[in-house]
Amino acid sequence: MSIITIDAVKCTSCGQCVEECPSFILTIEKDIPVITNEKACISCGHCVAVCPEGAFEHDLAPLKNMPELNQSLAISSQQAEQFLRARRSVRKYQSKQIPRELLIQLLNVARLAPSGGNSQNISYLVIDDNSVLKEVSAATRNWICGDNAGSRRMRFYKVFIEKFMKLDIDVILRDAPALIVALAPKQLEPGFSNARFALAYAELYATSLNLGSCWAGFFEMCGQAGYQPMYDLLGIPEDKVICGGIMIGYPLYQFHRLVDRNPLDIRFI
Ligand SMILES: Cc1cc2nc3c(=O)[nH]c(=O)nc-3n(C[C@H](O)[C@H](O)[C@H](O)COP(=O)(O)O)c2cc1C
Repeated sequence: MSIITIDAVKCTSCGQCVEECPSFILTIEKDIPVITNEKACISCGHCVAVCPEGAFEHDLAPLKNMPELNQSLAISSQQAEQFLRARRSVRKYQSKQIPRELLIQLLNVARLAPSGGNSQNISYLVIDDNSVLKEVSAATRNWICGDNAGSRRMRFYKVFIEKFMKLDIDVILRDAPALIVALAPKQLEPGFSNARFALAYAELYATSLNLGSCWAGFFEMCGQAGYQPMYDLLGIPEDKVICGGIMIGYPLYQFHRLVDRNPLDIRFI
């Protein structure tokens, strides 16, 4: 049994699936696509998605899970630019819980982000319990302000965090009602990059759900450094590593203007 099934009535032998396959493991035999090396398939589903006739079925990338592109939902480049420029890091949140269904909706989009070799190796931990969030913040602070404050950068963070701690201001998690943590298997290389893409998707999609987010950089450093008290606190299994985190919640304030950055620095060859 092959992992692919072709509807011979619908297939026109156009060869787009063959051309599109990133692993070069499809070929046309007797006018029908066949797979030559199933083990090399990365299950990306390009063959299924590119077929103009819907004739391609793949056990590891089922057609039914790939809805047809709805052209009426396409956005203009102007809309896309405004959407991307409107996202800001949110550091002031309403003290309102995010329904868990909404967090699931959000992460169901984040999981669609690209991953190296289509490894799809990111899993998520969502912390929406205020007392645990406070413990996460305290553990991060202990890591930064403890023995790790060796480098100039860490000393700067330590001073910053301690200054605001005295004023009872949490600059680590900003009193956000939730923290999304991206985890990856320890051994596999693309975990960190994959996590960044996934969390970036989450940050962008969050805005369309009236949610705001901010990269939890201090937490991320602590997690990536493998600070054991944090792993114990969150019950993270030994074979997983914290790759990143974002704070998330309903923004207290709205931004009325779009972002600007340094001018584009670019060189063509
Ligand atoms: C890797 C990374 C780590 C960050 N860490 C923090 C952080 O720990 N705390 C925070 O308030 N903002 C953090 N930020 C947010 C940046 O400060 C923010 O993206 C930048 O100032 C630009 O603002 P904007 O996101 O609103 O456009 C981080 C952003 C990135 C990409």
